[in-house]
Amino acid sequence: MAKKETFQLSKKLDHVAFIMDGNGRWAKLHGLPRHLGHKKACEGLMAIYDACREFHIKVMSLYAFSTENWNRPQDEIDHLMGYLEDFFNKNIDYLCEHKTRVVISGDISRLPVSTQEVCKMAMDRTKDYDDYVFNVCLNYGGRDDIVRAAKLIAKEVKEGKLALEDINEEVFANHLYTKGLPDVDLMIRTSGEQRLSNYLLYQNAYAEFVFTPTKWPDFDRSEFIKCLEEYQNRNRRFGGLKNE
Ligand code: IPE
Ligand code: IPE
Ligand code: MG
Repeated sequence: MAKKETFQLSKKLDHVAFIMDGNGRWAKLHGLPRHLGHKKACEGLMAIYDACREFHIKVMSLYAFSTENWNRPQDEIDHLMGYLEDFFNKNIDYLCEHKTRVVISGDISRLPVSTQEVCKMAMDRTKDYDDYVFNVCLNYGGRDDIVRAAKLIAKEVKEGKLALEDINEEVFANHLYTKGLPDVDLMIRTSGEQRLSNYLLYQNAYAEFVFTPTKWPDFDRSEFIKCLEEYQNRNRRFGGLKNE
């Protein structure tokens, strides 16, 4: 086996968010049905989770299914949900071992009952952990997240629980699915597409974006390190003039 490449992350990175794209194209390239691309994608996930822990990145977000992905054939959706259930059933003990809280961002009530149950099991078993956060964006849309937060806030104001003057960016962020999580520092999209596709719109406000042509099923620790190196060389100014 090849020697494991060493890497030291010296820049602050609390939250990395992935758009795991290119599964279908990966499958096509290998002469396989699309759903096997999703299977392979799930198989490689824990190596990236391990790398996040290795580099002391506390929060990882994964775009697993968007509000727009309902436009796909039902058969592909069924396979995706099945692989997701297998993923949690197989890895939940390991996530617990490393005191990782599973967060599901998105409205899971529209998912098959069996998928909802596995999600609830994963959230419930890990709810008291805080060393790491494994945030799976499932039936997630950034616009839906923002509209939902606005509704929750409006309800609190209407019921007299929140004063209009007290609404600020922090209060707003605390009504998003990602409540309590830090802003995204680094957003990585695989497969060469260069767009956000409705992903964590509020949370990505000052994230660094790294786009790699590698398709998600081929995205491994060494590909991740390449993205981290690129991030490390960025000058994050946050509107100021500092040379971080
Ligand atoms: C990303 O891979 C996974 C999901 C959207 C669920 P795709 O299925 O979008 O793969 P491509 O973009 O068609 O190659
Ligand atoms: C974004 O990928 C959603 C996920 C990775 C879950 P898509 O493949 O659905 O996005 P578009 O259609 O290329 O924008
Ligand atoms: Mg895609």
